[in-house]
Amino acid sequence: MDTRLFAFVGGDSGLWRIVGTETIVGKSLPEAKRLNVISASELQPETSAPWVLRGITSNERYVMREEKIEIVAKQQGLARPEATCAALIPIRKNAAWWEFTQDERRSVFEKSKHIQIGLNYLPAVARKLHHCRDLSENEPFDFLNWFEFAPAHEAEFNALLSELRATEEWKYVDREVDIRLMRE
Ligand code: HEM
Repeated sequence: MDTRLFAFVGGDSGLWRIVGTETIVGKSLPEAKRLNVISASELQPETSAPWVLRGITSNERYVMREEKIEIVAKQQGLARPEATCAALIPIRKNAAWWEFTQDERRSVFEKSKHIQIGLNYLPAVARKLHHCRDLSENEPFDFLNWFEFAPAHEAEFNALLSELRATEEWKYVDREVDIRLMRE
């Protein structure tokens, strides 16, 4: 069993209630009431859920040692009792992004100040990144981004997204759906 492989099942059951879905760019996802986050090995092959997204946690691609030290010092883990709000933001990047070399991608990531922007919102926002691209050729997204925060920090989380979406990095995003959740 691969414990790094997760399935996000949009349907009628699960810990998280879907309180809003906004399609930022590209194709939307079908309607669902609740989200179940499970280990992919628990996924029923005959599931009738409106959507299932799969992603795997992986090694870091871009982060430099000094950045990592800052992030680790500031970040909080998932499942804090007060963090009853979450967001699942699946993202796909376009062909131009994937045709870049690794150092060209890092350069865009760096110019966009993704990490500096993000650091300003720690520890309020906890995060976890899942990759989809290497699972199969026909995954609908490249990344499944998961965030958790307390209701009092929702406005800050929205500000973080506005900042990131205005960056050069986001010019390469060709599909993004913003799914908001509450643990209730
Ligand atoms: C990747 C930090 C918020 C979307 C990364 C990476 C770091 C990072 C360090 C690189 C991981 C690696 O080296 O492979 C942060 C911090 C945040 C934050 C500290 C503050 C909460 C966000 C938000 C989004 C987002 C709100 C929007 C959905 C992404 C995506 C990637 C990524 C899509 C993968 C980029 C790629 O590999 O092309 N983030 N991030 N991040 N982050 Fe963030």
